Amino acid sequence: MREAIALQQATCTGIDLRKGKNMPSLKGRHFITEQEWTKDEIDLALELSTELKERKKRGEITDWLKNQTVFMIFFEQSTRTRNSMGCGITQLGGNSHDLTPDKMQLTHGETAKDTAIVLSRMGHAIACRNCFYNVGNKYLRDLAEYSTIPVLSLQDDIYHPMQVMADLMTIQEKFGKNLKGLKVTISWAYAESHAKPLSVPQSQILLFTRYGMDVTVAAPPEFPLMPDIVEQAKDNAEENGGSLRFSDNMDDGFKGAQVVIPKNWGGFAGLSEWVDDDNHKLRMKANLLKHKDWICDARRMGLAAKDVKYMHALPADRGKEVTDEVIDDDKHSIIYDEAENRLHTAKAIMALTMGGR
Ligand code: CP
Repeated sequence: MREAIALQQATCTGIDLRKGKNMPSLKGRHFITEQEWTKDEIDLALELSTELKERKKRGEITDWLKNQTVFMIFFEQSTRTRNSMGCGITQLGGNSHDLTPDKMQLTHGETAKDTAIVLSRMGHAIACRNCFYNVGNKYLRDLAEYSTIPVLSLQDDIYHPMQVMADLMTIQEKFGKNLKGLKVTISWAYAESHAKPLSVPQSQILLFTRYGMDVTVAAPPEFPLMPDIVEQAKDNAEENGGSLRFSDNMDDGFKGAQVVIPKNWGGFAGLSEWVDDDNHKLRMKANLLKHKDWICDARRMGLAAKDVKYMHALPADRGKEVTDEVIDDDKHSIIYDEAENRLHTAKAIMALTMGGR
């Protein structure tokens, strides 16, 4: 905590209080995947998130990024990410531009290179959500190649680093900092709203295994995660004393779990050579319809540990992914704490990358 306060003071005063701490400044760093940040850096961001949460509760001003602008480019809809970033930068003393491709020249084909260079000459961070499969992460990497200001992922087709920071913060609030051996189940669930990206479960298996958790992924065979992400997560588990196992049975996945995170993801990785055409969409839909019974209900929650916590990044498909009875049960459901923590973690990431020392 002292370090987080020191960091805040450093940010306010411009004095580099990291000096002698053997940790380079995070100012100017991109945040495209949590996997590219060290555990010390993630821990620092989480400490600062907690500090910011407490300061907000006390009504304190934290305008460390006065007059700074973050450009937010959303290729898709967003409630939590858009508003945690927008409120977050305001509370840090700066402002955001809420952009979509049609508000910019992107729909007329302007390149990521030109966009990144021009915005870099004007503001202080480029934040972007682009979840198109096989496109999103490449687009963010293109922005980062040419941007001279931090590029912050607001979710892509592979990673959702802002979400998983809030998830980890929420889990630590409920279970303490030492998460070694915590049994967490990330389960696929049926949904009809849209084929949700792979990025939430993928960021979760990558990060949770780094904290020594025993992670189970339950999913039907047609809905795998990306093989190279799974390999990285296995390495993370091995290096950090956690584990990663897979099951194709939702009941089996829930047995004994202390945290359950049932959520839909699309079958993009299950179709080799995915292309965004009607044929692939129809195949994915046919696979989806086979698994309507993958819902988180009271019976399945009964298979988990007695005090199991239910999490969901939201938005949830109520009645499809999860019953109202489960998601609205305050004894187990911590979805609103998880959503609120999006604000505090987003503020910490912006403070560190845009102004931090
Ligand atoms: N969890 C999440 O990213 O929510 P939004 O899509 O509303 O931003």
